[in-house]
Amino acid sequence: MPDDSVKKSIAVALGVCIICSLLVSTAAVSLNSIQEENRTLDRIRNILVAAGLPSGDEDMQAIFEDRVRPVIIDLSTGAVLPEEDYNDILNVDSFNVLDMAGDAAYGMEVPVDRDMAGIRRMPRYMLIYFIRENGKTSRIVLPVYGKGLWSTMFGFIALESDLRTVRGFTVYEHAETPGLGGEVDNPAWKRSWRGKQALDEAGNVLLRVIKGRVDDSRPESRHLIDGLSGATLTSRGVDRLVRFWLGENGYGPFLKRLKEEQHGQV
Ligand SMILES: Cc1cc2nc3c(=O)[nH]c(=O)nc-3n(C[C@H](O)[C@H](O)[C@H](O)COP(=O)(O)O)c2cc1C
Repeated sequence: MPDDSVKKSIAVALGVCIICSLLVSTAAVSLNSIQEENRTLDRIRNILVAAGLPSGDEDMQAIFEDRVRPVIIDLSTGAVLPEEDYNDILNVDSFNVLDMAGDAAYGMEVPVDRDMAGIRRMPRYMLIYFIRENGKTSRIVLPVYGKGLWSTMFGFIALESDLRTVRGFTVYEHAETPGLGGEVDNPAWKRSWRGKQALDEAGNVLLRVIKGRVDDSRPESRHLIDGLSGATLTSRGVDRLVRFWLGENGYGPFLKRLKEEQHGQV
């Protein structure tokens, strides 16, 4: 076949395409497990940061294993699921919140009038984390997620043992605009959550992300977080998702139960 024939040109182009696509798909498949591992490490780092534990790279996994106890809770009753009830889907190792939410048995629709977080479906169970200190639970870390302007944002909120005071807040996955909504990731902003009173004694959610800056001279400032400037819609998303998850349709029953257990009423 002459070098300048149409058939040969097409054959060469096709061959190059096939080789390239094989290379790309091999790379994608082989990098998949590394990416998954990095995602897990990033989640661990965010749990430690929210909980106020050291999160340096070398000892992160060891600190997590030593200080963090992952458990699955039933969101409607607030009860911790006994390990003998774990199965292939419901277990702490492979728990995936979106898979759970989408599952016919393990997820459910969120009625529109209650869907403050804009998530449409939610899991019936959630993987949460007890932080241990000297053999006692000192804090809890709760996963939260909900819609921002462009994306679903995923994060953690950690509460002190009084189950009302915020220990830390992190966002570990979002696709908001860098410099605007992307500032949900700003360490200084996330640090500003620490010490805020998220709930009152009766379990009503008081925490709000407001538009603009909080006036620290006002007593209600202890419930309020500065909005992100130029990112009112992302800030509103964070406000709503946190209030949804801490409220009666999220962790409300769990927090109530835990409080009763703390007071020896269960
Ligand atoms: C390209 C572009 C990207 C934007 N990204 C965000 C964003 O990630 N989050 C957000 O809340 N607003 C974003 N906005 C701005 C919103 O459209 C809206 O103007 C803003 O939320 C209003 O906030 P402000 O009242 O604090 O100015 C973006 C606007 C443009 C033009």
